[in-house]
Amino acid sequence: MAKSIKQLFGYAIVAFMACLLAVACTPTNNTTSTTSNSPTTSGTQTPIPIGIAVAQTSNVALLGQEQVTGAKIAEAYFNKRGGINGTPIRLIFQDTAGDEQGAINAFNTLIAQDKVVGIVGPTLSQQAFSADPIAERAGVPVIAPSNTAKGIPQIGKYIARVSAPVAVVAPNAIEAALKINPQIKKVAVFFAQNDAFSKSETGTFQETVKQKGLELATIQTFQTTDTDFQSQVTNAINIKPELIIISGLSADGGNLVKQLRELGYKGLIIGGNGLNTSNLLPVCKALCDGIIIAQAYSPEMKNEVNTAFHQLYIEQNKKEPPQFTAQAFTSVQVFVESLINLDKTAKLVTLALPQLRTQLNDTLLAGKYITPLGEISFTPEGEIIQKQFFVAQIKMEPDGNSGKFTFIQ
Ligand code: ALA
Repeated sequence: MAKSIKQLFGYAIVAFMACLLAVACTPTNNTTSTTSNSPTTSGTQTPIPIGIAVAQTSNVALLGQEQVTGAKIAEAYFNKRGGINGTPIRLIFQDTAGDEQGAINAFNTLIAQDKVVGIVGPTLSQQAFSADPIAERAGVPVIAPSNTAKGIPQIGKYIARVSAPVAVVAPNAIEAALKINPQIKKVAVFFAQNDAFSKSETGTFQETVKQKGLELATIQTFQTTDTDFQSQVTNAINIKPELIIISGLSADGGNLVKQLRELGYKGLIIGGNGLNTSNLLPVCKALCDGIIIAQAYSPEMKNEVNTAFHQLYIEQNKKEPPQFTAQAFTSVQVFVESLINLDKTAKLVTLALPQLRTQLNDTLLAGKYITPLGEISFTPEGEIIQKQFFVAQIKMEPDGNSGKFTFIQ
């Protein structure tokens, strides 16, 4: 029979006491789970475990590390404000790395071993299509912090996302490019054909190009693992496009931009959501200058929680918070506020873990949240309803060593 949360908390207290008695508290199993040391509301209650399954290693960590930062800021912030009606939360991190198997392993460990109430993750849509069905079958709510491919919430009733899909975000970048250069006629599109999100995003970009009456002059493909793009770049440049649109991830996307510029392309470049990180800047350096990227977050969002998040991020990082960090913070916030609401109607400690997970899922789908992304809610399927989107352009210092995202729309 399922253990109640109260029993689980009891076991954890015993384990905690045993750790206190030991000279050093070392893990007794060989998993890679880590927890953060944020201040908690009190030293007496056993925290409520929430899983964070994002890419802490591999090339995908260029995005995942920004997510870890956002989740940790949220943990400290909400625990300082009283956690779940006095009980703190505790984030349990399982590194998914960059592939499907890593995400599957992380989800399995969080669900079966760490006994989390819900999971934030994984980083890539490509990983979500493999890992989310595991949570769905186990009845564990998942909030996707960055999966933007078509079809993510439709994986199942336990899968929701705070990352607005490509269909509503990507077209904004093309509109911004046309404002900068109304003469654009010919467009070249590049996409990573081994990545589910990139395939989905290029579909939206290609449809938008046609809807705007532009010529889709060439479609070039690559792999997210590629480093040499010479032949595709040469094919595209020969067609003389005025706009190039890239759907890929950060390392490949950054190298592609670099080679486009090195081989002489001078027109505008749009990068998709996989390039939406300042971790791209060390890859293409000065040649990143001018890349246009649609945004689902603006640091300027005016509300109390964004003001706090923004300030905490700047104190730690001395720069503006990026979208992936804001979305990860928001994912934890949705779990926290839903747990608070659920605890008011059905005391969490009285619920067995499967019941708690199911009721948490129902509660989160019904809620409305004021977040760093603005006011958000979900469709019954788990798709985010978000009001505002933005567009930024990368501005590099001439030495190529630093740069920033400047909001243009
Ligand atoms: N938005 C990217 C994806 O969905 C990171 O994979």
